[in-house]
Amino acid sequence: MRQATVTINRDALQYNLNRVKQLAPKAKIVSMVKANAYGHGLENSLSALAQSDAFGVACLEEAIEIRQLGFNQPVTLIEGVFSEDEMQIVLDNHFECMIHHQQQLDWLRQYKTQYQEKKLKVWVKLNSGMNRLGFKFPEIINVIQSLKADGFECVLAMHFANADSDDHPMNEQQKQQFLQVREACAPILCSCCNSAAIIKWPELHFDYVRPGVMLYGASPFADRSVHDLDLKPVMTFSAEIIALNHIHTGEKVGYGSTVTAEKEMDIAIVSIGYGDGYPRAYVSPNTVVVNDQTVNLFGRVSMDMMSIDVTGLNASIGDAVELWGEQRLVDDVAKANGTIGYELLCRLSNRPVRIVK
Ligand SMILES: Cc1ncc(COP(=O)(O)O)c(C=O)c1O
Repeated sequence: MRQATVTINRDALQYNLNRVKQLAPKAKIVSMVKANAYGHGLENSLSALAQSDAFGVACLEEAIEIRQLGFNQPVTLIEGVFSEDEMQIVLDNHFECMIHHQQQLDWLRQYKTQYQEKKLKVWVKLNSGMNRLGFKFPEIINVIQSLKADGFECVLAMHFANADSDDHPMNEQQKQQFLQVREACAPILCSCCNSAAIIKWPELHFDYVRPGVMLYGASPFADRSVHDLDLKPVMTFSAEIIALNHIHTGEKVGYGSTVTAEKEMDIAIVSIGYGDGYPRAYVSPNTVVVNDQTVNLFGRVSMDMMSIDVTGLNASIGDAVELWGEQRLVDDVAKANGTIGYELLCRLSNRPVRIVK
């Protein structure tokens, strides 16, 4: 059988959730499980994240799956509903909506009695400069005050555009705006921290934190690894060597013949490619791990295979190759490919076999 596997380590997921609890002991934890739990598989991840206070997803379909899997924690739809007919499903399943535009407010008001009877909170999104979703300042103050006057319990929510950057001026601007709205709407529940903000700004944890990538053992920062942050990689993506070729000086490898041997080389062919979700075009030297040794990719990644330089190693057909995991961090693979760990985790295809530990 072709070996291409994604192994999910639920102990690591649980460990990372406990790290969030240590970092934000007073806040409730809304574990972000959107996009199939950042590519880790919703079912596998929910059981390891069962001690979360709530879950966060991007749409109704993802939220419904949580209920179908038997998890009854509160679920926040971070983009709210996309049409009025979704409101009844929200109520039937006890989901909580983010509200970020007037139409959603109108829809909510139509279902006011049921929403309030079920004691569901309304998450109201502040657009403090990211200019993606939300009401701007000071309009949001009126929105929240009228919701409160109508008997809704609100959570003021905001998302940082640059929490991963230490000195971006937008951070201070967004913080100040959030605090201003919080004061104007007091008393109000508050939530503004994703992974980077949880780690950097304990003073902003407030009532709910919303960790995503850190739960899965990838780093939100370009310059701090998961090891620096005391987090554990949850996913191991691996394959195996399916062929070995000895090539002579001047011979080329792979599509486009983009690489040429400058010496005698041993090239191993590995059972993984972009059809599995491994990125094709690396922008700087990229490596994998074979028998605890770090080795370079050699030539282009194709749909089902890649070639690696195992010159001088005792590599054999059948040897396991770690594409990312504990030894080769997904964030480092991402850097070599000009992207972020988040993207690599989310965009794996269905082809690799999933194994849950
Ligand atoms: C509203 C919101 N909160 C929290 C998160 C989690 O972010 P991270 O994965 O960086 O922790 C996201 C992710 O995109 C988000 O959109």
